[in-house]
Amino acid sequence: MDVLADKRILIGVSGGIAAYKACDLVRRLREAGAEVRVVMTAAAAEFVAPLTFQALSGHPVHRALLDADAEAAMGHIRLARWADAILVAPATADTVARLAHGRADDLLAAVCLATTAPLALAPAMNHAMWAHPATQANCASLTARGVHLWGPAEGDLACGEQGAGRMLEPADLIARLAGLFARGALTGTTVLVTAGPTREALDPVRYLTNRSSGRMGYALAAAAAEAGARVILVSGPTTLEPPARVRRVEVESAAQMHAAVLEHVAAADIFIAAAAVADYTAAPAAHKIKKGAQPWTLRLTRTADILAEVAARPHPPFTVGFAAETERVVENARAKRMRKGLDLVAANLVGDGRGFGDVDSALEVVWEGGGTSLPQAPKARLARSLIALVAERYHDKNRTAQDSRSQDRA
Ligand code: CTP
Repeated sequence: MDVLADKRILIGVSGGIAAYKACDLVRRLREAGAEVRVVMTAAAAEFVAPLTFQALSGHPVHRALLDADAEAAMGHIRLARWADAILVAPATADTVARLAHGRADDLLAAVCLATTAPLALAPAMNHAMWAHPATQANCASLTARGVHLWGPAEGDLACGEQGAGRMLEPADLIARLAGLFARGALTGTTVLVTAGPTREALDPVRYLTNRSSGRMGYALAAAAAEAGARVILVSGPTTLEPPARVRRVEVESAAQMHAAVLEHVAAADIFIAAAAVADYTAAPAAHKIKKGAQPWTLRLTRTADILAEVAARPHPPFTVGFAAETERVVENARAKRMRKGLDLVAANLVGDGRGFGDVDSALEVVWEGGGTSLPQAPKARLARSLIALVAERYHDKNRTAQDSRSQDRA
């Protein structure tokens, strides 16, 4: 993670059990070449000894606001200016509340108030505290002020309960910190990607699905994140791990995928529909259907075309569709682009084992007035090439729109 080399990262540790994970975070940041200083709240020092952080960071831990010696060595204003980025991990419910209200009565709050560097919080708390409207309102006001909120994740909590409230893992936090410094072709944009198959239930135990592995969509999500985008990945059932710095929303049916896309599309600058969405669905039976002597006839109804619906919005994002073709790839891709009103279509040849799973693939890419071939390559490499093309076309379209707006004004 070269991007973190020589970066000055201030880690704020507040008083929750996840403070022990912050030790690993500091160690890994040092390994990545970052210079790390640690500020602990009084409660944090009840969970982990400051000496641990001193040993891991290679510097004395900063703890007190009103300590003349500490202020003389490196006061809160100098600390705030020193940092290239501040990450509070774990951020307890109390710390979130204090920062949301602009408090400055302990060192961590004062540094966060005084800094102009990017500030990120990794919340960790009991799930009911996280879900409480007070915490949610505090988070909303922090987000509105540009503070990054990373997590929490769902899972087993230290209190013995289950739910949202776990601090994100150190590796994930480090990837997100790196993202603050990476400047790529899609920095500052939000990319919404669909991936994988959908499952259409027939009864509680049976469903209709397809052969999509989700690999192409996941590779595109990873490549977009690498290019600096904020990425939301709406994924049907797959066995794949979510890529670093990608927010995954898991769905099962075409209807759920449709709803999840509609929920996030307003925030998206670019929409990439890589999912193999079922075109037909069934009204599932409430109980398992018993076999009988008679043939079973299924009555299927059409699902919503998510991609076409997104493209038809009044202010659509830059919209990218996929086409799986068994013949006349470019011709069919151009027709599909026109029919659905898309900015760009990536088409591949499927059938005879081509196209699905962990195999190399090739793409024919078409857009208005142009097109190119991306030759056979592993999906990760192909995804990077496609994201580079998408970024180029997206910026080109925005420039053209801006030019015509300035001409209108002139
Ligand atoms: N798509 C979608 N919602 C659907 C169906 C498809 O968003 N309900 C998207 C896919 O993610 C893909 C593109 O639309 O980007 C595929 O278009 P589609 O018309 O379904 O093409 P194919 O299934 O490849 O082919 P055909 O035209 O033969 O049905």
